[in-house]
Amino acid sequence: MGDEKSPCALVVMGVSGSGKSTIADGLAARLGWRYEDGDRFHPPRNVAKMSAGHPLTDEDRRPWLQAIAGEIDRVCIAGQRAVIACSALKRAYRDILVHGRDDVRIVFLNGTEDLIADRLAARKGHFMPAGLLASQFKTLEPPQPGERPITVSIDASVDAIVDDVIRQLKLVPS
Ligand SMILES: Nc1ncnc2c1ncn2[C@@H]1O[C@H](COP(=O)(O)OP(=O)(O)OP(=O)(O)O)[C@@H](O)[C@H]1O
Ligand SMILES: [Mg+2]
Repeated sequence: MGDEKSPCALVVMGVSGSGKSTIADGLAARLGWRYEDGDRFHPPRNVAKMSAGHPLTDEDRRPWLQAIAGEIDRVCIAGQRAVIACSALKRAYRDILVHGRDDVRIVFLNGTEDLIADRLAARKGHFMPAGLLASQFKTLEPPQPGERPITVSIDASVDAIVDDVIRQLKLVPS
């Protein structure tokens, strides 16, 4: 028993290929929480821009991140719980997502570029432009202690990573 508020939302973050979808989905299944892919919240103009091969600006990302923050509020007010996969590479992005809530926790998937490159090469049905992983690592601002992140090494099985997060958060599956 602690005086920490139990979380209603987990944001699973990391570079492309770090395992966000896999781990968020595994966590949601184990906890009996809802799984959400953050990409679902992009406004149509962002989807069009990305489909045309143009990178998004931080200005473009703002309404998207605000939409996820709105979903977090709805989930938490309704007394539900969700695990959301979202790259959230920069502190400014995470600040929009968390928006000061102490019941939203960041789960950071930490791994080396070599390991993630291997996993991306093996991933089926996805095309990955050369240089994208390097640019993701350049953009990545690892979460700082003040963000109270749960950091897990991704150099482990999916089950072991899910265990690690649940143990660090002292969560009990419902
Ligand atoms: N712990 C793990 N051990 C082995 N393979 C893994 C592990 N976690 C994820 N993978 C595999 O690595 C690949 C990348 O994982 P995933 O698609 O979940 O990453 P992602 O962070 O959601 O990527 P994106 O940002 O492109 O959506 C997938 O093929 C997945 O099956
Ligand atoms: Mg994914």
